[in-house]
Amino acid sequence: MKLETKAKSLTGKLTIPGDKSISHRSIMFGAISHGQTKVNRILRAEDVTATIRAFQSLGVKIDDKDGIIYIQGQGFEGLKPANKPLDMGNSGTSMRLMSGILAGLEFETKLIGDASLSRRPMDRVADPLKLMGAKISGQGEACLPPLKIQGGHLQAINYQLPVASAQVKSALIFAALQTKSNQVSEIVEKELTRNHTEEMLQQFGGELTVSGKRIRIRGGQKLEGQEITVPGDISSAAFWIVAALIIPGSNVELQNVGINVTRTGILDVVTAMGGKVEIYNQTAIAATLKICYSTLKSTRISGDLIPRLIDELPIIALLATQAEGETVIADAEELRIKETDRISVVSDILKAMGAEVTPTADGMRIRGKTNLHAPHKVIDTHGDHRIGMMTAIAALLVQEGEVVLEGSQAIKTSYPTFFDDLKGLLGTNKEEGQWQ
Ligand code: S3P
Repeated sequence: MKLETKAKSLTGKLTIPGDKSISHRSIMFGAISHGQTKVNRILRAEDVTATIRAFQSLGVKIDDKDGIIYIQGQGFEGLKPANKPLDMGNSGTSMRLMSGILAGLEFETKLIGDASLSRRPMDRVADPLKLMGAKISGQGEACLPPLKIQGGHLQAINYQLPVASAQVKSALIFAALQTKSNQVSEIVEKELTRNHTEEMLQQFGGELTVSGKRIRIRGGQKLEGQEITVPGDISSAAFWIVAALIIPGSNVELQNVGINVTRTGILDVVTAMGGKVEIYNQTAIAATLKICYSTLKSTRISGDLIPRLIDELPIIALLATQAEGETVIADAEELRIKETDRISVVSDILKAMGAEVTPTADGMRIRGKTNLHAPHKVIDTHGDHRIGMMTAIAALLVQEGEVVLEGSQAIKTSYPTFFDDLKGLLGTNKEEGQWQ
């Protein structure tokens, strides 16, 4: 599709769609709990649909009535063998977290995914789950999908995570819940990562203790269905935060943004760069953010900050092209195994648009401030939603020529209303752009 260029400014209010991580987990916790779970404001996007369909294939009754999702959970024991492979589409979160659930079930399940997911390593979850007693096979050393999981009879684990990953941590929590009630698992994180699984486990009546990076969890716990309201996804809000900061004259208000502290690294970075962000109407889980165009300076992004903004790094790289000085992103080698190798794909796109970006083994160095121009080639998302959205925001700065995006469909995995929301903030009401 042809992207919008030469943006004058972004203005107005926007309610941010539901958090993807919390939406997945609402379905998962609902399915393994007893009784009804009601989910308000779930993210309507392909990744979450993959999780819903997978649990329906495992025999869970899930209904969508008047925009609310109802899940009739019957505990882990209510999950039944699926009569076809579970298709996780593009969703790494679905595949990795569900592996932890399936690891405890005494039947075989096959998990498949699209081309991008089929290139992503599953050994990070398969290895510890095998130590707990599950039988898991994938392709090659990295245990690539398709995966076969034959679960049952899990033993508690004492495990130091070799990578900072909420997905792996969460899979192990789901597996640990299925050990016997006299067994306690201990999971130690490499760095603190998003803690939605820990928080939601307690919300569903479960218990675990967290001290720093150490999590202890007892097996055999019975969870109870709940009512959940999903806050907006700060990872989706990030595109508008950056757009408002870099397009002169912008002033936007983003409502219902989830502000769990394990996710708010982008706000710390923006503040360090001199960006104007105000937070108000704050509740325990969400807030309104007001952002306006700002003069920005470079910063360093590394260490324990990385897991708090891992999904925002593509759009933060764009932000850095508009800041004075050299911004360094380091300790972010995990970016190489996301939906694409985001270090190389982001560097290539921004360089094609005239930015000074040097990819490194574990991040990027970006020197600003540069005027972005139209690339001399079509930009391809390579099936990565966040690459598509980053390119669409970068295109807004282009003053001459066209920016054409191939594979914009990928954006639907996490943010199907992205282009409508963009039009709303631009104040343009042109005919619908064609997804392609
Ligand atoms: C997620 C965790 C992160 C993140 C992903 C969603 C989650 O992955 O990149 O988009 O919901 O647990 P890792 O935990 O593998 O870094």
